[in-house]
Amino acid sequence: MTNKQWSPDVYLKAWHYATRYHHGQTYGGAEPQEQIDYINHIGSVAMEVLHALAQTPDVDGDLAVQCALLHDVIEDTPVTYDMLKNEFGAQVADGVLALTKDVSLPDKENQMRDSLERIRRQPREVWMVKLADRITNLYYPPFYWTPAKIESYRQEAIIIYEALHGAHAGLAARLSEKIKRYRQFVGEDEN
Ligand code: NI
Repeated sequence: MTNKQWSPDVYLKAWHYATRYHHGQTYGGAEPQEQIDYINHIGSVAMEVLHALAQTPDVDGDLAVQCALLHDVIEDTPVTYDMLKNEFGAQVADGVLALTKDVSLPDKENQMRDSLERIRRQPREVWMVKLADRITNLYYPPFYWTPAKIESYRQEAIIIYEALHGAHAGLAARLSEKIKRYRQFVGEDEN
């Protein structure tokens, strides 16, 4: 898997698949009442992974970009593990499944720690997607989050950093910077 660059055709197949299944989904933006198309998040995560791949030749680029583009389809759309396996193969489906919360677990903290354990049993490319996902999610909090929610999200990011920073120095550095910068949002609504 050394020096395996990503292929534009592999990228496009996963991008179209993600676009189709996330169609119509939105999330809260930074501005009051702002809703952003979900695919914006997917494109941002893929960009972080591509940027990291450009610094790192000894990574399976196709695996990394497919997992990046598809990372939320099991969690947030009707797509199943078997559908992904049929379409993209077991390695991609296994990676995306590890990146998916097990909602049968009691609370968000357990769900996150369980997912991190499963990610750590996956190849480094899957760890990179989780780092990229949290970097992206720390650009700014949704307009409706309370300071307590924002702080707990920041604390979660520290746990993710501690579990996965060994996967990629560039992504680890970016996540560390975003965690520091995110502090500015915690006190914003306090008065
Ligand atoms: Ni995500």
